[in-house]
Amino acid sequence: MNNEINAIAEEVKNCTKCPLYETRKNAVPGEGDSSTKIMFVGEAPGFYEDVQGRPFVGAAGKLLTELIENILCIPRPSVFITNIVKCRPPENRDPLPNEIETCSPYLDRQIMLIKPKVLVTLGRHSSSYILSKAGIKIKGITDVRGRIFSLFMFDILLNVMPTLHPAAALYNPQLKVQIEEDFRKLKNFVNTSL
Ligand code: URA
Ligand code: SF4
Repeated sequence: MNNEINAIAEEVKNCTKCPLYETRKNAVPGEGDSSTKIMFVGEAPGFYEDVQGRPFVGAAGKLLTELIENILCIPRPSVFITNIVKCRPPENRDPLPNEIETCSPYLDRQIMLIKPKVLVTLGRHSSSYILSKAGIKIKGITDVRGRIFSLFMFDILLNVMPTLHPAAALYNPQLKVQIEEDFRKLKNFVNTSL
């Protein structure tokens, strides 16, 4: 399976399917343990991710890493972390619908290979992309955050937990409390139900 995950990473690094390849420094395929039970999906690489070719290595990544290590109490390399869109949108703008449509098959293939028990979707874009695949339309992240949706999708029974994007929680103490609350729920679910 690792070989297949690596093969996707190679495809992503050489991909020219959408215009974002023209402005990227490095594509960011994702990283971590492909035999994990827990997979995280963000939106798109930012400045530091583009420079390093690794997901969640900037300020938001620091918070995500802390949540994984201090609340889930597991090392970051033991989970798999990726994004819907694998190349950085200029100026960190939101990815366009056609960029999501063109790039998301890579994510779909990663999910089908890794077959996580829980998919944690970080922020509205990632949550609405994944839940819409199961026919669930969301208005915003507040209604769905911290809930576990058990869905048959990608040929597996997948538990999806939407939460806030760590970038949103970074400078907002109230949202930080909420994302921490969601991670405690996640830990409880992982410990009792998996
Ligand atoms: N924000 C994201 O959504 N993904 C990253 O990889 C980094 C920041
Ligand atoms: Fe290819 Fe995705 Fe990068 Fe577009 S964003 S060039 S589809 S890897």
